[in-house]
Amino acid sequence: MGHVRDLRLFLLSALPLAFAGLFFGGVYSYNRPPVLRKILSVPHSYGDDHNPASPQQVHISLVGEDKMRISWITESSTPATVEYGTSPTKYESSANGTTSSYRYSIVYKSGEIHDVVIGPLKPNTLYYYRCGPASGRDFTFKTPPAQFPIKFAVVGDLGQTEWTDSTLQHIAKSNYDMLLLPGDLAYADFYQPFWDSFGRLVEPLASQRPWMVTQGNHEVEKIPVIHSKPFTAYNARWRMPFEQSGSDSNLYYSFNVAGVHIIMLSSYTDFDPSSQQYKWLEADMGQIDRKITPWIVVLVHAPWYNTNTAHQGEKESDEMKASMEGLLYQARVDVVFTGHVHAYERFTRVYNGKADNCGPVHITIGDGGNREGLASKYEDPTPDISIFREASFGHGQFEVVNATHALWTWHRNDDSSAFVSDSIWLRSLSSDPACQYRGQR
Ligand SMILES: *[C@@H]1O[C@H](CO)[C@@H](O)[C@H](O)[C@H]1NC(C)=O
Ligand SMILES: *[C@@H]1O[C@H](CO)[C@@H](O)[C@H](O)[C@H]1NC(C)=O
Ligand SMILES: [Fe+2]
Repeated sequence: MGHVRDLRLFLLSALPLAFAGLFFGGVYSYNRPPVLRKILSVPHSYGDDHNPASPQQVHISLVGEDKMRISWITESSTPATVEYGTSPTKYESSANGTTSSYRYSIVYKSGEIHDVVIGPLKPNTLYYYRCGPASGRDFTFKTPPAQFPIKFAVVGDLGQTEWTDSTLQHIAKSNYDMLLLPGDLAYADFYQPFWDSFGRLVEPLASQRPWMVTQGNHEVEKIPVIHSKPFTAYNARWRMPFEQSGSDSNLYYSFNVAGVHIIMLSSYTDFDPSSQQYKWLEADMGQIDRKITPWIVVLVHAPWYNTNTAHQGEKESDEMKASMEGLLYQARVDVVFTGHVHAYERFTRVYNGKADNCGPVHITIGDGGNREGLASKYEDPTPDISIFREASFGHGQFEVVNATHALWTWHRNDDSSAFVSDSIWLRSLSSDPACQYRGQR
């Protein structure tokens, strides 16, 4: 039954997909090496009896400094209620939230998408929780610490292949506090059931630690005439805490965690100086207090610095950089994490195309494991500002030790234990007297 419906959906989706190819083929025309690994499709099968009220695709995200949003999907209509507490199966608290669903073109209707914000919660504490009434599935998560040290896992262009699975297994062993994802999640590419499959694939990790994401080109899913609204599935399924930072859009927002101010930007929304996104960013940066958050980290999908031959000359990279790089520089942003290019690359501190001790370190970490494969051709000779580049799948860990020091490591998947292939100690710009500027708080 489910298979018949999936097949019908697939055939109905194939037409708009081909149609979309006509429009977007030119934009994303980079030819990657052939795909060697299988695409994973994770079916809905929890336990022996299939209960349509059973929670699936559970993931959590931080809201404010001490609350958590619990998101999950059910096939049937159930109350959006989360029970939680600090000891197993004894849930002393509960909270209600909202339920929504969306349609994609005329063929697809999503399951019931539930969002419940719980808290206030204690920092660095293990919580037990359950989604919906009478659900047999119990979950746990750990809240992030309120102070340094804190460890972030960073991975972009994740997808859902055997490469992805390998990356996730390595991340699971890293003892991270929070995952940061600079865009391109499911690679559903208009075929909505792949969003559900992705939700199931990441659930073991995303239900245990907050996953904070921003979106890439594979989240746009806009098809002229057939489905003209962009980001429909992304916004419905991956709701982020944008209101808390004064943003008017789920596509860009910021938050503080343990002394780090994290800013999520949108490559595929207006970014010129008259845009809402630009004005919001300017206001957000004006409110950063470096005594509270000595570190500033920015995530955006399309890289502003890139010496791979893939994705050169795209407007989301070049024009967004031209518009916003000055703001990031003046705010003394420490690191910019990007994706889009399916490889790893780390730059020196840089501003306006040149090495600059007060500029951010730009890191491309688009090597999560998507089905398009790796981008392995580079500009030759290597420009001076590019310090380390390699086309291998993997993930990064950003461990902020204290107000002045952080350790960045890139972990390649090739080895059974995630191999450290690149590592560097960073000093926060707020602690560098040579980078103080007027107006800094
Ligand atoms: C959640 O909603 C149910 C049903 O309306 C209600 O009985 C319960 O008290 C609510 N719980 C909270 C914490 O508001
Ligand atoms: C911060 O961490 C670095 C690296 O571990 C260490 O060398 C430094 O002394 C620490 N600073 C403070 C103020 O503890
Ligand atoms: Fe991308």
